[in-house]
Amino acid sequence: MVAYKTKVAERIHLPSRDRRERALAEAGYNVFNLDAEDVFVDLLTDSGTGAMSDAQWAAVMRGDESYAGSRSFDELESAVRDVMGFSRVVPTHQGRGAENVLYGTLLSEGDVALNNTHFDTTRAHVANQGADPVDCPVEGAHDLATDEPFKGNFSLERARSVVDEVGAERVPLVISTITNNSTAGQPVSVENTRRVRDFADEIDATFVIDACRFAENAGFVRRREDEFTDADIDEIAREQLGYADAIVMSGKKDGLANAGGFVATDDEALFERCKQRAILYEGFPTYGGMSGRDVAALAVGLREAVEEAYVADRIDGVRAFADLLEDAGVPIYTPPGGHAVYLDAGAALPHLDSDEFPGQALVCELYREGGVRGVELGSFAFPDTDRPELVRLAVPRRTYHTEHFEHVAETAATVIEKRESVAGLEITSEPENRELRHFTADLEPVSPSQ
Ligand code: F0G
Repeated sequence: MVAYKTKVAERIHLPSRDRRERALAEAGYNVFNLDAEDVFVDLLTDSGTGAMSDAQWAAVMRGDESYAGSRSFDELESAVRDVMGFSRVVPTHQGRGAENVLYGTLLSEGDVALNNTHFDTTRAHVANQGADPVDCPVEGAHDLATDEPFKGNFSLERARSVVDEVGAERVPLVISTITNNSTAGQPVSVENTRRVRDFADEIDATFVIDACRFAENAGFVRRREDEFTDADIDEIAREQLGYADAIVMSGKKDGLANAGGFVATDDEALFERCKQRAILYEGFPTYGGMSGRDVAALAVGLREAVEEAYVADRIDGVRAFADLLEDAGVPIYTPPGGHAVYLDAGAALPHLDSDEFPGQALVCELYREGGVRGVELGSFAFPDTDRPELVRLAVPRRTYHTEHFEHVAETAATVIEKRESVAGLEITSEPENRELRHFTADLEPVSPSQ
């Protein structure tokens, strides 16, 4: 059931094919370098790109910009308490700010952090403390076509083998990312979360949940975990998040806001330490790098994110988009996740080897063919790993309609029909930090594609 109608309209354009060709070449075949004006359907990310509600915009007007003691912060604190169950909140400018505050507080040189799968900013913040980020995805997480309900889960077996190898004293931090963005947005079960809690206790580690997409995760739990069939979304969210000592949150995802983030906890000592670090990097602890109006919008967004109608609309919407793609013959990761559909570029463009970047080639063709922008998450974004060649088409919240998704599915189907003419790519310049090369590197086709 559709849960929204449009109140503010933004004009978009499909540039001519000629313009798209030129824009792609000018962007060095890297869609991060495109002008957004040249993009028709922008599925680069679901982060901060969604439509805020009328209630959020009303809250924006009432935002309290006081440097200290802002009323908007009180609203955020009470939303976090009601929706997520934590009493202490340290606001930050966005999710990675929260990662810096919390992981900078918890980690030291030589430590190891375990995570079901580190998102790229999480990995970078762990490494930035001189610690080693180790992924513990479950077996089958990278199988693109199985129907397991919780492929995002944290593997206790892998975690135990790491602890056996390095010693428990080197592992002060265990993280569960819900949903698991770097594993195709797959959900994590509450049952798995309980086991991770027990494991963290066994090794005397702090257990953190990366809660960016906690509401989508709760929606999947209700549909797939028997114990929760009759529970409300917010009850599930509090149950799952309640196993953690602290959470990191990007308000740009399930906060339904365009900016913001926070750390939340019930641990007074941890709260105090985070607060001190936040003053250094983010701002005074009642705004933390956000404007008061952003804080106010986030407080309202958090409450909307656990409304039954919102979560149903979200999960069904992404599922419907995945169905359109599958019906058009486009190979995708199944089951689809909560915030995006991931295309299997290896299967879509089987004539390209991984050193010709099939995922990036597919991203470029989607733009060239239909002005669609996605993001590569394969051999270009993750050099020297053996991850599958995926392209993520992230779905901004409450933004696009069926016609947009039909256009994307038709575009992808056309690219696949013409797959033989799709050229591979090579990198012509890249930054010193290879881990972040997909944001700024330039490429060119290995041979002319038309
Ligand atoms: N953790 C996860 C799981 C994320 O997906 C992100 C951001 C962050 C932390 C950092 O949050 O962007 O507010 O600083 N993911 C975005 C994406 C960028 O496109 O998936 P942030």
